[in-house]
Amino acid sequence: MTPLRSVGDAAVHGRRVLVRVDFNVPLTPEGAIADDRRIVEALPTLRHLEAAGARTILMSHLGRPDGRRDSRFSLRPVARRLSSLLGRPVPMAEDAVGVHALEASARLQNGEFLLLENLRFHPGEEANDPAFATQLAQLGEVFVEEAFGTVHRAHASTVGVPQRLPSCVGFLVEREIRELGRLREGVERPYVVLLGGAKVADKLPLLESFLGRADSLLIGGALAFPFLARAGARLGATAVEGGLESALARFAERAAAAGTKVVLPDDWLIEVPGSADAQACGAREVPDGAIARDIGPRTRDRFYAELTGSRTVFWNGPLGRAEDRRFAAGTREVLAGLQGLAGYHVCAGGDSARVAADLGVDGAFQYISTGGGAALEFVQGAELPGLAVIPSA
Ligand code: ADP
Ligand code: 3PG
Ligand code: MG
Repeated sequence: MTPLRSVGDAAVHGRRVLVRVDFNVPLTPEGAIADDRRIVEALPTLRHLEAAGARTILMSHLGRPDGRRDSRFSLRPVARRLSSLLGRPVPMAEDAVGVHALEASARLQNGEFLLLENLRFHPGEEANDPAFATQLAQLGEVFVEEAFGTVHRAHASTVGVPQRLPSCVGFLVEREIRELGRLREGVERPYVVLLGGAKVADKLPLLESFLGRADSLLIGGALAFPFLARAGARLGATAVEGGLESALARFAERAAAAGTKVVLPDDWLIEVPGSADAQACGAREVPDGAIARDIGPRTRDRFYAELTGSRTVFWNGPLGRAEDRRFAAGTREVLAGLQGLAGYHVCAGGDSARVAADLGVDGAFQYISTGGGAALEFVQGAELPGLAVIPSA
């Protein structure tokens, strides 16, 4: 990829700099920040702007509030964490646009920060509504794209704003492009892609691009359910996402010719009503009323065997519901095995990074990306709208 204009070369002193960050951090059920990696990774750019005397306005989404104000998705906890990480107060504007945000951004002094409330409280964000993008763009004079995790979205803050302001990328985006670029071109083989997670409707249609590109594609987590359901497996009371028939059919058609080995689970750990313990069963024989929650021991061994001898591994998505100790073994054991293997191993995804750290197996990775879906698309060579809009250096 040709290098993009960098924040390191932008004139920012005394100017209002509008920075799109991805502070969409995983939250605990109580609404606390479960992992602050996405905030921490943006700090080098924020400290640079502070030292250079910029007036920095930060904007992000959190979760999927679907265009409505919803206090469960407020960025307030993020403002508090950021304040303590930066060692200076980061005030918030209660709304991403409007008089208050305009006044607050106009009052900023050199080296100060302001965080806007969740962009997705407005339907105009995801719709990339021109009026909403114009309102956002009025807050700044320069735009910095630092939300690597969101550059696969053509939203107002990722595309509409940079179309309206002089733009560049931040240091995190530069690093992500450099590191993930190793998986885009000239990847060292064998190349194994290990996938799981829950954003099935988002991810499943993307898997096709790994066919022919990777040597093996190992699919676990909830992502495996539609493949097995299509093959006639009995999945009991497991919730299987629908509406994916055409993507599944296209995948099956191309997989046959692609020369990529596709490995699906042989067995599960299931949750059985009335029983506190996890039980194992065959991947195609989940009893009525039971729910598949994690890959089983045979599948762990199978996945590990595929990882042995690989030179490059890309992982996105927990292989089971790893937040629940009973269903963490699949992810933990496979990644613990990976930890002992040589090669370049990349972890991608907000939940994936948190789960790997919680399970003590993040040492399996040479690089941990802040992107989930964005990293998935980037390593497949896709053109990402939030990067395509930034001028070359
Ligand atoms: P990432 O944020 O890393 O891109 P996702 O958001 O797609 O990953 O998915 C993460 C979530 O997937 C985790 O919270 C995990 O609990 C859930 N998950 C994975 N497999 C299963 C499963 N079999 N059943 C229920 N939840 C699952
Ligand atoms: C992510 O967590 O992958 C990014 O923040 C993008 O979130 P989204 O999938 O809700 O657009
Ligand atoms: Mg996630």
